[in-house]
Amino acid sequence: MSTPVPLLDLQAQYRPLRDELLAAVTRVCDSQRCILGDEVAALERELAAYLGVGHALGVSSGTDALVAALMALELGPGDEVITPTFSFFASAGSVVRVGARPVFVDVDPATYNLDLDAVRRAITPRTRAVMPVHLYGQAVDMQPLMALAAEHGLAIVEDAAQAIGAKDRGVAVGAIGTIGCFSFYPTKNLGAFGDGGLVTTNDARLADRLRLLRDHGQHPKYHHALVGGNFRLDAIQGAVLRVKLPHLASWTEGRRRNAARYRTLFAEAGLDGVVGLPYERPDAFHIYNQFVVQVPDRDRVRARLTEQGIGTEIYYPVPFHRQACFASLGHPVEAFPVADAAAGRVLALPVYPELAPEQQQQVVSALADALRG
Ligand SMILES: Cc1ncc(COP(=O)(O)O)c(C=O)c1O
Repeated sequence: MSTPVPLLDLQAQYRPLRDELLAAVTRVCDSQRCILGDEVAALERELAAYLGVGHALGVSSGTDALVAALMALELGPGDEVITPTFSFFASAGSVVRVGARPVFVDVDPATYNLDLDAVRRAITPRTRAVMPVHLYGQAVDMQPLMALAAEHGLAIVEDAAQAIGAKDRGVAVGAIGTIGCFSFYPTKNLGAFGDGGLVTTNDARLADRLRLLRDHGQHPKYHHALVGGNFRLDAIQGAVLRVKLPHLASWTEGRRRNAARYRTLFAEAGLDGVVGLPYERPDAFHIYNQFVVQVPDRDRVRARLTEQGIGTEIYYPVPFHRQACFASLGHPVEAFPVADAAAGRVLALPVYPELAPEQQQQVVSALADALRG
């Protein structure tokens, strides 16, 4: 068997930055200032500039970013939040965590992002917010969604966990809606050495609320105007992310280059009609957190790739409307055919920036073999 190709190789990113990363971690250890503090404040300034957004606040995870955002908007029992049924669990889980009701909508078959017509149909007098998810790193078509939200007085909580640096019409996701939420989970394009996240907003009043909410609503210390949570980001994560952030743009270019190379390789192999390649919205800047193809007989094909040492993953095999924990919401299981079809066919291939052309050729050849049976 040839050398395995992992889905993601974090060692390849770590090795050239090792000394700098260890120095940054040592700096935090020597300071013994372990939570928030100067490192996180500096990271927040740097990320706000990178994203072109007024306020950026480090939080403990992407999940907590979503929970804090919904809390800042004072959503709770009786409120509905529209979210795509095809996403990572946290998009819907966070809505339930604050006591509100997630209302699922189907996705667009080309982008896997929420279907705007379905959103329009799902609006009720109880709808308070929409949570677009920029899935796999491709921006949702935000302009019509923002117009619809304005028409109905709805907040937009962008789940940008997979999409740091992605843009819609030149504007970074997370800087478009009411609040943006990012994840620094290690597999993300900007990954920490553990859990971490970010909330962003251009609204100074919401930024103040989010700052309070991430630290139990206290200000000054032990005086609580709000009930928040412990959503604080550790200083070690801040320091690590500050070393990595200057490389993010070139890593993104690497992912985009690899995505383009896959398109060429699949065409050369005569597979572009058999393998469904990711669609790139012309107005969007895709950052390819994942390069997701659709293949027939997916589970068998995936098993063959695993045998050949090719790392793949299924994001996501079970849409929200088929999850046991959401059964009581009463969504008809047959109502989301696009998400159901995608869940049965999607397969994420390695696309990380350090992936070599020969490795991509190996992936495509192995996929061609697997498809032949
Ligand atoms: C779309 C989406 N939303 C939310 C999250 C939650 O982020 P975290 O794992 O940092 O809590 C993730 C992480 O995988 C995600 O992909």
